[in-house]
Amino acid sequence: MNQNEKKMKVAEEALQYIESGCILGVGSGTTVNCFIEQLSKIKSKIDAVVSASESSSKLLMSKNIRVISLKEAGRIPIYIDGADESNSLKQLIKGGGGALTREKILAQSSDRFVCMIDDSKFVSKLGNFPLPIEVIDVASSILALELIKLGGRPVLRESFITDNGNIILDVHNLNITEPIKLEKSINNLPGVVTNGLFAIRPADDLLISSDKGIEKI
Ligand code: A5P
Repeated sequence: MNQNEKKMKVAEEALQYIESGCILGVGSGTTVNCFIEQLSKIKSKIDAVVSASESSSKLLMSKNIRVISLKEAGRIPIYIDGADESNSLKQLIKGGGGALTREKILAQSSDRFVCMIDDSKFVSKLGNFPLPIEVIDVASSILALELIKLGGRPVLRESFITDNGNIILDVHNLNITEPIKLEKSINNLPGVVTNGLFAIRPADDLLISSDKGIEKI
């Protein structure tokens, strides 16, 4: 199976977590796009969706799926999203698509966070994928210096503005031995909106798609 087929399979598997009449949280990215395709087949089963990005909202609305705000929804029973990397503790790196801040808000607001990946993203140690950090533009150069002190190599994501109007620094070469500690220290730097480590609030269920099928952790 190629990566796209694996994404479609894992997206199909995630449908089993949906309960009738529920409000569902949906993340962002190519795996989520596959999930939205699948979701459109059973859309009458759900009440509404809270979406983590403008692009997911657009795709959901094009399928005539009702999109509501988090303010309207309150808590979210189930949140379904992809990731760029996961370790065996279901701690993640997210934000390859740049929607990390709203994704983290939705993950934090959810009772159950189901994460869909393919086997190429399951790693023993996080950090091969550069860590995305959403930052306020005026702080970018001072933050870059702080991130270098942490051992990283920050690279400005060119021609990219988040849905919240901010920029992204992708930080290469970080030695992520303690994901929770690093997530907290980066979040404490003034000018950081969010970093793409999802370790304080990891996934609850991880679905890994491979040639052998879907493994659930
Ligand atoms: C979006 O900002 C990301 O967090 C995505 O969830 C993550 O990058 C996975 O994306 P793909 O499903 O496109 O690989």
